Amino acid sequence: MKLLKLIQPLLFFLTLSLGAPLITEIKRDYTVDSQSAFKSASNAIWLTFWNTDKNAWDYNDPQCSDSTFTQPSVWISAVAGMAITETYDSSQAYLVAQSLIDNYLNSDNWFSSSTAKDDDVYTDDNAQAIWVLVQSYCISGTVEHLSIAEKVLANIQDQWDSNEGGIKWKINGDYLASISTAEAALAAVRIYQNNQDENLLTFAEKSIKFLFDKLQDSSDNLFYDGIDTSTGQVNKGKLTYTVGTAISTLAYLSKFTGNEDYTNQAIELAKAAINKDGAFYSTDGYWNNQLQYIHLLYAGLVDLLVVATPTSQSQDSFYQEIIAEMQRQAEFTYNYLQLDDTGFYFHNVYTYTKALYSKFASSSSFGGKSFKPNSKYFCDNNVSGTPKRSLMDSASAAQVFYELGRVT
Ligand SMILES: *[C@@H]1O[C@H](CO)[C@@H](O)[C@H](O)[C@H]1NC(C)=O
Repeated sequence: MKLLKLIQPLLFFLTLSLGAPLITEIKRDYTVDSQSAFKSASNAIWLTFWNTDKNAWDYNDPQCSDSTFTQPSVWISAVAGMAITETYDSSQAYLVAQSLIDNYLNSDNWFSSSTAKDDDVYTDDNAQAIWVLVQSYCISGTVEHLSIAEKVLANIQDQWDSNEGGIKWKINGDYLASISTAEAALAAVRIYQNNQDENLLTFAEKSIKFLFDKLQDSSDNLFYDGIDTSTGQVNKGKLTYTVGTAISTLAYLSKFTGNEDYTNQAIELAKAAINKDGAFYSTDGYWNNQLQYIHLLYAGLVDLLVVATPTSQSQDSFYQEIIAEMQRQAEFTYNYLQLDDTGFYFHNVYTYTKALYSKFASSSSFGGKSFKPNSKYFCDNNVSGTPKRSLMDSASAAQVFYELGRVT
């Protein structure tokens, strides 16, 4: 209740200050076809990085002569898997989820970071793997995928710190991570949507409360990275995916509980995330996080629009501002981070191909930063040769366009 009182004047101010000038901004043409950009990127990763014989993702670009089949970390496999489930192809959704289980799930029902299936386990990775399993359950109807998701989430819930609250990042470790807490809460509401277990809603609510009480920076409303309980120190880094998954969770909580406070909290976070003077913007005016952290911010903003907000509000200027900003950012991704018209993407314009750099350098947003290609992003480490294509960046970009396709 108190929170609501604090936010209402802010919203009023927002509506006043953002009204008229925005409309002109919104009317600018959005030049990307989100749906076809999504199809192109998801198709590109499937045809290139999915190894049909091994039923697994290949981390390396098979076109490089120095490439050998190597499975990526479970995080990358989960991001790639999520992008594929968004095509709603039933057999592919099953395959990518089952591949997580076959290749990473250890005997304690944890997804290990690598295919070693050892104790090197991170709760945020596990939450992302759960999202893929839930998608597979919804699309392919595989009941076992939902029941494994439930078991893994129960494990994550056991990593709640009984003193401070919050979810431990590495299992049984000292670091309480905002990302683990937010992603676990999102996993909980997604499972709740399918099994109606009220305990999961309670868990998501207490996780969100922890984030706002213990890790929100009151000066800009964004979330800090986490707390080291062995020293009491707060890591003040801020990443877009933490805010994005918190917004998604709040959108679902608003829908499932009917409590509007959750919508208002989501709006507060959305406003903080698209504040151009804020921590998420670089000097060239775009989000400064890598694609792998950004697609979940799009997902959160879109969930706020389509899950939490009644249609009658969807024309509000603030919501239109969110859409316009996502479109502007997505155009940057499409035009300057895509390798030719291939559907493959990379996470910056400065260390990859000369062609992408030159294209950006001739745009009005260019800030003058110099070109320094990094040999590790090229086949045979040859910066004048063939660029390696990135599974993670391309899968993240696919999700960016999928999300925009939900609102445009
Ligand atoms: C790097 O690639 C360029 C372009 O294909 C080629 O001409 C050059 O010989 C390569 N350098 C090495 C050391 O292989």
